[in-house]
Amino acid sequence: MIKALYEKLVLPKLCDKCCGTKPINYQRNKVVPLAKGVVLEVGVGSGLNIPFYNKNNIEKIIGLDPSEELNVLAKKVADDNGIQIDFLINGAEDIILPDNSVDTILITYTLCTIPDLNKSMSEMKRVLKSDGKFIFCEHGIAPDKNIINWQRRINPIWGIFFGGCNINRNIPKIISDGGFNITNINQMYLPSTPKIVGYNYWGEANI
Ligand SMILES: C[S@@+](CC[C@H](N)C(=O)[O-])C[C@H]1O[C@@H](n2cnc3c(N)ncnc32)[C@H](O)[C@@H]1O
Repeated sequence: MIKALYEKLVLPKLCDKCCGTKPINYQRNKVVPLAKGVVLEVGVGSGLNIPFYNKNNIEKIIGLDPSEELNVLAKKVADDNGIQIDFLINGAEDIILPDNSVDTILITYTLCTIPDLNKSMSEMKRVLKSDGKFIFCEHGIAPDKNIINWQRRINPIWGIFFGGCNINRNIPKIISDGGFNITNINQMYLPSTPKIVGYNYWGEANI
């Protein structure tokens, strides 16, 4: 009961707030404008990426996310920015789109949270066109041993308060194991962000 209320009333706003910091928005601006054609944004959340799309390059945006509460926020951001988005209220484990149908998959700060990564990566690979791009920006396992140790200790508690978010996932491995070739990757600790949640990986992959 308390968990359900927390997830309905508190978590969506917390997610929106924590993912909308200046350093994170700086990261968004590095990747979102690269999206083009038919775009599937996986884990569209509260729509924090929406203002960063380059509308001139976009044919259509499909925003997928299982959270109905976050969808209410995302719809408002889309309307405020005059961007039409087809929303799919669903997890990435089951993407209701045809094979080879999207030019870009954009995923930001979501690989940390998806429960079934194998199924989801395989679904993303299925819907991406053979010449399509997988664009990512995620937080994950840090390179320093002492930070990794702290990430391991805190991860179980973190997930309880942040909707199942994991702070120590190996992002490059998840993408490669999912059958994608990483063509460009950058990584660093975000400024003004606790190191246990601030190690970012961003770049592009193809299939
Ligand atoms: C930390 S939020 C990030 C939201 C957004 N991508 C952003 O950059 O602000 C994690 C998101 O993953 C979504 N999520 C959880 N399970 C998912 C799943 N199975 N498939 C796709 N998205 C999922 C959550 O609803 C939430 O919107």
